[in-house]
Amino acid sequence: MVTETEKRAISTIVIVIAMQEEAIPLIKKFNLSQDTNPLFPKGVPWVRYHGIYRDLNINLIWPGKDLNLGVNSVCTVSASLVTYASIQALKPDLIINTGTSGGFKAKGACIGDVYIASDVAFHDRRIPIPVYDAYGVGARRSFSTPNLLKALNLKVAKLSTGDSLDMSPEDEVFITANGATLKDMEGAAVTYVAYLLSVPAIFIKAVTDIIDGDKPTAEEFRQNLAAVTVALDAAVTQVIDFISGKSMLEL
Ligand code: ADE
Repeated sequence: MVTETEKRAISTIVIVIAMQEEAIPLIKKFNLSQDTNPLFPKGVPWVRYHGIYRDLNINLIWPGKDLNLGVNSVCTVSASLVTYASIQALKPDLIINTGTSGGFKAKGACIGDVYIASDVAFHDRRIPIPVYDAYGVGARRSFSTPNLLKALNLKVAKLSTGDSLDMSPEDEVFITANGATLKDMEGAAVTYVAYLLSVPAIFIKAVTDIIDGDKPTAEEFRQNLAAVTVALDAAVTQVIDFISGKSMLEL
């Protein structure tokens, strides 16, 4: 059954983005301002930037810097917490999780490619007990956007999420079983929370490193982060421009 929410124009969007380096260009592009009256509990590092772009109320949520170590609060725990808190506070029509990812060249990924993830699952929650195995993997389809895909010419692939930048042999088995082209550290956590709270979610991921290549991942990631972020921001802007004025049913 089609709901009223699905029929009306999308108005509030939450963009969850783990790294400041990925967020800054979008904050500038959409002319967002940092929240002066924070929605989140006192003391947490989570930051909301917000503003009106076209007809959309855009909220970019960055989990901020770790309070002890001062680095970006990447990975699944922070991603699920900020997604939960943002949905509770802002009641968005749509969540967009964007950021960088590793990609498999054997599956056609190249540095700088931007993808929309069709499916998202975990690869490091191994529970070899019937039914818990499927719970651990937590595979879910992302919100389907056939018109957006037709209009924007972005690649489409499956995304697998874990809490490590490297890939253990055990992870690889699960990533292969997930059919993933892309590997990140937040997507499946965001989709879990979005699913729990019945908010549609889409995933825009750009490839910074080739997992099945010969370069050390951390080095390749750092080398490509700035350049790939430019491609990512261009794609996110295209997606936001496409969404503007449309209902969920029209995506
Ligand atoms: N983000 C960028 N590259 C990644 C990789 N190889 N694994 C997980 N997350 C990433």
